Amino acid sequence: MSLIVNGTATEPPADPRVSLLDHLRETLHLAGTKKGCNQGACGACTVLVDGERILSCLALAVQYDGRAITTIEGLAEGDALHPLQAAFIEHDGFQCGYCTPGQICSAIGMAAEARRGVPSHVSADLDAEVTLSREEVQERMSGNLCRCGAHNGIIAAIQQTVAGEVAA
Ligand code: FES
Ligand code: FES
Repeated sequence: MSLIVNGTATEPPADPRVSLLDHLRETLHLAGTKKGCNQGACGACTVLVDGERILSCLALAVQYDGRAITTIEGLAEGDALHPLQAAFIEHDGFQCGYCTPGQICSAIGMAAEARRGVPSHVSADLDAEVTLSREEVQERMSGNLCRCGAHNGIIAAIQQTVAGEVAA
């Protein structure tokens, strides 16, 4: 049994009750993934599993045997930031930065959902191709809270990068 975290096979926790969030932070020392509410309400703990966004505080690590988990630490290529990371800097998409890893992982997963044509609550036509308008991004990212109120910069960064890939 192994969890593939940022491309590396790792041992799962011995205790099956350990959340994926605690396993990432406390055992693997990948502290980029943040613990906010620890009950599925803030999005700070969002990571990608096989490209889909999940809340790692609500997941048990042992559920993810053989799955590819990507955390914020796995997005950059060496010294080259992921384009969305760079856009967050360019657009002042953070202040304290606590929500930022979850925002970035969530936005990448959100864009993949849009590419697959998954509609949101504000999509007028359920069968149409998804265009990530500001309203769509706001709705689709509404599970990621930012207590600093950096949402304008966050949305701008997303629209410049991952949303642009979908809207084009
Ligand atoms: S820490 Fe997981 S949703 Fe808040
Ligand atoms: S940048 Fe502080 S909570 Fe979002």
